Amino acid sequence: MGKILDGKAFANLRAEKLKKQVEKLKAQGIEPYFCVINIGDNSASKVYVRTKKRRAESVGIIQKIYQLPKTESEEDVLALIDKLNADPKVHGIMVQLPAPEHINVNRVLERISPEKDVDGLTPSNIGRLWQENHFVEPATADGIMALLDHYGVDLEGKNAVIIGRSNIVGKPLAALMLEKNATVSILHLATKNLSEYTKMADILVSAAGQANLVTKDMVKDGAIVIDVGINHVNGHLVGDVAFDEVEPKASMITPVPGGVGPLTVEFLMEQVIKLTRRANGIRE
Ligand code: GUN
Repeated sequence: MGKILDGKAFANLRAEKLKKQVEKLKAQGIEPYFCVINIGDNSASKVYVRTKKRRAESVGIIQKIYQLPKTESEEDVLALIDKLNADPKVHGIMVQLPAPEHINVNRVLERISPEKDVDGLTPSNIGRLWQENHFVEPATADGIMALLDHYGVDLEGKNAVIIGRSNIVGKPLAALMLEKNATVSILHLATKNLSEYTKMADILVSAAGQANLVTKDMVKDGAIVIDVGINHVNGHLVGDVAFDEVEPKASMITPVPGGVGPLTVEFLMEQVIKLTRRANGIRE
């Protein structure tokens, strides 16, 4: 029987601490302020943006949403980023992805000031992450590392296998796990014989976005299984892992919902506070 890693409870615990940090900042006259730019009408993005706003408000962070039409020109998005970069009351900026096809995402992300890059997706912050000189950590990857630490998982010398090579989750998580001396493999949907690798995993992370991708025959007895997938199947939210059959083999496993999802939003807020402190010369 796998121990359930309760991301929701852990996120709530962290949020209580974060609230106190926000109160301290406010007592010094500092209002943490975070801007989300959402271009177009992707329905999942709208849900994410709303969830973030609720969470921000509950910990005392101001979140402003710039909801732009899907026809917004790249030039206008860049001009908005320039304006927010220059605004001293703004501590964090993120551009919700995916963006419409006519937008060059790399050009847009590169325009964000690295000092305000809450997502850690600007080239200099990605570079700093791989140099083990982090300025900011992508929230989902940071949340997973903190969850493992919270449950006493030591990565030193472990085989960590990550399915998914995204800039948002797979790659930064690989960097953070490597830094803890795990032996890291990054797989993806074009990998041949996924199970040859996954069966070697002490820690298996699936962030591929495919329901029922990870089945019990792919998982070693006693593995720790982290499910980052968010998939909608017949009106239900499910992860990438066939939970019912994998859970008995795992030593620890995250559920969907209530596992990694709540951590993503919580740790995004933690990055906002980190950047707010830095902008005000407050040491951590
Ligand atoms: N869309 C889904 N997840 C994310 C994320 O972590 N960052 C950004 N910018 N867009 C997303």
